[in-house]
Amino acid sequence: MQPAGGAAQPDGTIAYRAQILYFTASPEQVPDEDATVYLSDGLLIVQDGHVLQAGDYQALAASLPVGTPVMDWRGKLIMPGFIDTHLHYPQTDIIASPAEGLLPWLETYTFPEERRFHDAAHAAGTARFFLDELLRCGTTTALVYCTVHPESTQAFFEESHARQLRMVAGKVMMDRNCPDYLQDTAESGGRDSEALIGRWHGKGRQLYALTPRFAPTSSPEQLALCGELAQQYPDVFIQSHVAENTRELEWVRELFPGRRSYLDVYDHFGLLRPRAVYGHCIWFDETDRRRMAETQTLAAHCPTSNLFLGSGLFDFAATQACGVPVALGTDVGGGTSFSMLQTMAAAHNVARMTGHHLSAHRLFYLATEGAARGLDLGGRIGTLAAGAEADFVVLDPQATPLLARRTARAESLEELLFALIVLGDDRAVAATYSAGRLVHERQKS
Ligand code: GUN
Ligand code: ZN
Repeated sequence: MQPAGGAAQPDGTIAYRAQILYFTASPEQVPDEDATVYLSDGLLIVQDGHVLQAGDYQALAASLPVGTPVMDWRGKLIMPGFIDTHLHYPQTDIIASPAEGLLPWLETYTFPEERRFHDAAHAAGTARFFLDELLRCGTTTALVYCTVHPESTQAFFEESHARQLRMVAGKVMMDRNCPDYLQDTAESGGRDSEALIGRWHGKGRQLYALTPRFAPTSSPEQLALCGELAQQYPDVFIQSHVAENTRELEWVRELFPGRRSYLDVYDHFGLLRPRAVYGHCIWFDETDRRRMAETQTLAAHCPTSNLFLGSGLFDFAATQACGVPVALGTDVGGGTSFSMLQTMAAAHNVARMTGHHLSAHRLFYLATEGAARGLDLGGRIGTLAAGAEADFVVLDPQATPLLARRTARAESLEELLFALIVLGDDRAVAATYSAGRLVHERQKS
């Protein structure tokens, strides 16, 4: 047995001993025990960046080829890396900026900050910090907004590709109702997006997302062009914002008077489908929810952002009851934390405020397997089943004195997981692995 971080066999095989947890079904649909694989003394075997097998240590250890290194993470919990389905890397430096709601926040902080990303060197430096921060928090895949500048997207993908991370990102498209210095045109936005698709979609582990910022900043011509690109590239992602804030809702009603609802604007232009992801989805009616479900469009619930900007309380129960796929997003920099543990805690609190309970099993499902399925990436990420990409996180139930004290008293897996969510953050992440490579290890205090 070796301490964590050692070298693999010449054939690339390496194993990790720890508690192991991943999900095989939604805990909302079947009892927790049937939805999870939980091994109290488990062994995760990784070969060439993929999971070869995860199973009981006693059962598997004897069959390991002689000399296979076994990294000792006993006392820790290994689970799939977290998936953040909505955030903005150019907003890293304006996180925690006060404003009276979404639209003043965009005008005062966000747009001026995004201007800086025409500079490729600035973009690259911020992308480096941003990716470090995600990995420190155990997030191995994220759906990332860049800025309107193609350089910002290029810089992000270069940095992610060099680290072999599984990331989805796109150049923001915005051709009206924003400062001149951030505007593209319908034509240039389409051309630049298509060039970036050609350069990056499917290159190594990088995936592209068409990214019209939100309906108010795109002309009908731009949204129509975006819809054409979506049709032309059916496996490319789409990401945008919808129904986040009541003032924004009124604005959309004025700009698109012929449309039934805010969501209907996107529907009209062919922008609802599998691999389309919409942030917020707060101010929906039943027809909106039904359309999301029919088209299997993913709702990215961003609770820390919605609380911080005072946008509203996402109705988790109503959304899921309609069959809408749901996952979680930090929405940094409107969101207040890069940590998916903190985001899960906020989702729990918001559900409480709307009279519902979200279990820890369900919250971890949403941040891993549930997000992967919602993104049409099931079996590849968000799981430790054989064949998956070996993106995983090592959580430490003893990360802080308080966590250690509370988890020592846990009488069930649910209690242990719940404490990790409520009391955990980046400190609870002992290590993060991407494609089988150690990409973050917490400093020992
Ligand atoms: N709506 C349009 N742009 C943004 C953004 O950058 N953040 C959030 N939270 N909402 C938006
Ligand atoms: Zn956002």
